[in-house]
Amino acid sequence: MTISINNAHLYDISAEITLVFALSTDELLHEGVLNELGFKAEQDETCYLSEFKTLYVGVEANEHDLFRSAAATAIKTLSKYTYSSLKLAQYDINNTNGIFTALVEGFLLGAYTFDLYKSEKKKVTLNTIIFSGKTLEEQGSDISLLEKALVYAHISSEATNFARDLINMTPEEVYPAKLSQIAGDLAKENGMECKILGEDALKEENMNAMLCVGRASRHETQLIHLSYVPKNPLATVSLIGKGLTYDSGGLSLKPASSMVGMKLDKSGACAVLGIMKAVSALKLPVEVHGIIGAVENMIGADAYKPDDVLIAKNGKTIEVRNTDAEGRLVLADCLCYAQEKVKADYIFDYATLTGACVVALGQHTSGIMGHSKELKESLGRSADKTGELIGSLPFNRYLKKQLKSDVADISNISNKPYGGAITAGLFLDNFIEKENKEKWMHFDIAGPAYVESAWGYNPYGASGAGVRLTLDWLSNLK
Ligand code: BES
Ligand code: ZN
Ligand code: ZN
Repeated sequence: MTISINNAHLYDISAEITLVFALSTDELLHEGVLNELGFKAEQDETCYLSEFKTLYVGVEANEHDLFRSAAATAIKTLSKYTYSSLKLAQYDINNTNGIFTALVEGFLLGAYTFDLYKSEKKKVTLNTIIFSGKTLEEQGSDISLLEKALVYAHISSEATNFARDLINMTPEEVYPAKLSQIAGDLAKENGMECKILGEDALKEENMNAMLCVGRASRHETQLIHLSYVPKNPLATVSLIGKGLTYDSGGLSLKPASSMVGMKLDKSGACAVLGIMKAVSALKLPVEVHGIIGAVENMIGADAYKPDDVLIAKNGKTIEVRNTDAEGRLVLADCLCYAQEKVKADYIFDYATLTGACVVALGQHTSGIMGHSKELKESLGRSADKTGELIGSLPFNRYLKKQLKSDVADISNISNKPYGGAITAGLFLDNFIEKENKEKWMHFDIAGPAYVESAWGYNPYGASGAGVRLTLDWLSNLK
């Protein structure tokens, strides 16, 4: 898809279709016809006037995320036609309200389809979108600002779609070593370093919790360490991703209906890969390390068991009471590895960690947990800007007690059925060094990572949760 800004009046630009976003039907060029057809300009409502080659899409209020959604709706509507080019006006002359960025993202995210496994692929004809720029210049707008935003939106959307593709692929295709290979390719393309640790190296690193989770799999457990190191970075950030390429639950086997979709359990890892791709493409002045625990949780004679006691990389002992609470075991070791190898200013982890988080916040919102109020606030600003939804789940000392074990330092599950997203976060907290407490944030993306129905500009399946949010946050580091 080519998206450009043309320095001409809208009516002087040649394109097959004109797209108009309608905040209300008042004063629209085709107001009379639209009213006759009952178009009310409700959010994502569409009305295509074929005789005028104009598509109207309703937008409920002047908010960037509503425009993002409307742009996606426009693209999806037009995918039913055979037009190849589209033009539209500017809705935010200096991108002050982020509406220009939102529109570009909405087009690119909304155009995403995943048909790798369909024998008949949908043909997409629309390949050109032109924003009119003329009125901008007249109003003293800075087009170079918009050009910059265009590049950013392209990169962030492509990175999101890249993560979506990987998550949507089957566990047969994307197994741990495949994730490593994809990371290696990314490193080569974008000038990063990539280190892969196989099982022997992981043993050397005493990463036994992670190794036990992957023991019954026919695929080797691997740790991926991608590094993007620019000159004179403003800060160093470690991003840790849960990369369960499949989560059967292990011996605490998931019921059949809950197992369907568990290819999504690599979403944290794929988000990290997407972020690394974008950070390196944008050449951000921040050193970023992507550390991924790539593991498959299976059953078999060699499987780790409830009642096992595992010794994590930092020496803490963990009583396994449920092998389906495997993500926190993998992350525990990866967090230890990250803190030992990289002296970071910020440590974020991304994981489809608990069903409880989905119960708490719904399917569209990621849970964030950590000790730093400032960090939560700055992430909140990035969430507002990108339209990603986050909700802070608070730690407390009572929930912490629910992880007590009589046989080891800590149990891998809570002894009470409530607060499961927070107790999972508190489990991870045990593997964060004292001096790093304020630097750490845990993202439980179990809800939005993968939803089996389209929502806004997100399709059925993987959404790429975490990518745009983190990219915005990294871009605003000073
Ligand atoms: N990968 C799952 C969490 C999950 C559930 C992600 C639904 C996305 C959608 C995780 O490994 C898991 O199984 N967690 C258990 C923890 C429990 C055993 C304490 C869960 O949430 O039920
Ligand atoms: Zn699990
Ligand atoms: Zn899992």
